[in-house]
Amino acid sequence: MMKRIAVLASGNGSNLQAIIEATESGVIRDGTVALVVSDRTNAYALERARKKNIAASYFSPHKYSSREEYDRGLVTYLERRQIDLVVLAGFMRLLTPYFVLIFQHRILNIHPALLPSFPGEHGVAEALAYGVKVTGCTVHFVDEGVDTGPIILQEAVHVYNDDTSESLHSRIHAVEHRLYPKAIDLVLRDKVTIKGRRCIIDEG
Ligand code: GRF
Repeated sequence: MMKRIAVLASGNGSNLQAIIEATESGVIRDGTVALVVSDRTNAYALERARKKNIAASYFSPHKYSSREEYDRGLVTYLERRQIDLVVLAGFMRLLTPYFVLIFQHRILNIHPALLPSFPGEHGVAEALAYGVKVTGCTVHFVDEGVDTGPIILQEAVHVYNDDTSESLHSRIHAVEHRLYPKAIDLVLRDKVTIKGRRCIIDEG
């Protein structure tokens, strides 16, 4: 049975695009993107979804009195549509413990740095400013913290002398577009077992 993925995105949605294409090409074998939700009305991610005839909804933060109320509304919406896996792709809101509990071990995120280094919103710029020679990206399960959940996959990206945040982020993006679909495929096929902080991957 095809599992139903909801992608939550606030911006451009290039990872969303890569995930949709991976479901079409068979890189993601057991899943389909059933819907896309954004907290920003003009997120290009919504446009990308509509172009692929995928249900796309703007979930306005202004309609709710608190973060938890927002998440309660979102959970109800996702449950009604029988979502199996929630995939954050540039979603700029921190999920509340309520949301995380309901979808425990069924929420993924991608972060543009090698966690636990450089968590938070400015992972690329902070890695560059720190002077690291190697950074990268991380796919992890989402827990209540900021980029703290168990790590599923990571891949390194070298930093060049003449890198800017933009040039570095664009090389990281290219890796993300390959790594995120691979991680989603592994999770949907139950190839990832969480043991404490560690994810054990069955590559077979
Ligand atoms: C990605 O770099 C991802 O790591 C971070 O937000 C960015 C989203 O980019 N969480 P896009 O909207 O998928 O192009």
